[in-house]
Amino acid sequence: MTIRYLLRPEKPVVFCLAIAGFIIGGVLISSFIQPADKSFLCSLAGVKARETADYATTPIQLQAIVHYATSRVTPQQSFPEINVTFGVLKTLSPCNFLVFGLGHDSLMWSSLNPHGTTLFLEEDPKWVQAVLKDAPTLHAQTVQYRTQLKEADYLLSTYKTEPHCSPNKAYLRGNNQCKLALTTLPDEVYDKEWDLIMIDAPRGYFPEAPGRMAAIFSAAVMARGRKGSGVTHVFLHDVDRKVEKAFAAEFLCRKYLVKSVGRLWHFEIPPASDRETHSGDWFC
Ligand SMILES: *[C@@H]1O[C@H](CO)[C@@H](O)[C@H](O)[C@H]1NC(C)=O
Repeated sequence: MTIRYLLRPEKPVVFCLAIAGFIIGGVLISSFIQPADKSFLCSLAGVKARETADYATTPIQLQAIVHYATSRVTPQQSFPEINVTFGVLKTLSPCNFLVFGLGHDSLMWSSLNPHGTTLFLEEDPKWVQAVLKDAPTLHAQTVQYRTQLKEADYLLSTYKTEPHCSPNKAYLRGNNQCKLALTTLPDEVYDKEWDLIMIDAPRGYFPEAPGRMAAIFSAAVMARGRKGSGVTHVFLHDVDRKVEKAFAAEFLCRKYLVKSVGRLWHFEIPPASDRETHSGDWFC
């Protein structure tokens, strides 16, 4: 009963306090994080300085606490949905976290990945400017999409006829032949290996909106191309919608779905080199 009460939209203040609780949790995590590479080559002084820095709270966490404690605008995900990603960040942070969508939850995501890289991709340049004006420490880039929601069925039924979309050949940077590939992202997106990818954008609720098709396909390509150890965690929001469901089933695969909470699906996708390749089974 208490959880339901917390989530009622008419209680935004209570919800904000819950979010502030997440952030404070993040502050505590950052206090316990140990340096990842305690190399013997480091001088003792260097290690000591690094440990001191890791124990310090990051400025964005403090900014987030004040922001959420005083804001009446709530993040677009519910408390239990946010908790899924928080659980993964708790074990992996500091890590590389790519987020499709810039919004009221951005300060929170950055705060929950202290000393890591959290990059937001957003379609609307005006919105990027507006958000960065209030929170200049967020790391956000504008993305252009080449798709529209109304093309979703056509893209799903025809992408297999384009060899550049095939799982063994697909790449992203400059892959103009495959319409599902995001070809013009900032180099940083292609050059980094992302441990977590959150897909909560672009807009997909009217026919001319870009839809999430290319973001889902591109996340699958990034995850398959992972060179480091472990899986890529992919979170997809709004899975109550037809296009999100269909593209997730085609590219993120039911067999990699590990959690479903509210309107959020959590996938753990292994690198392609880790799996047997059966010809003809495409992405799943
Ligand atoms: C949050 O997630 C953790 C696992 O990471 C789980 O143990 C806990 O019950 C969850 N809390 C809520 C309120 O959903």
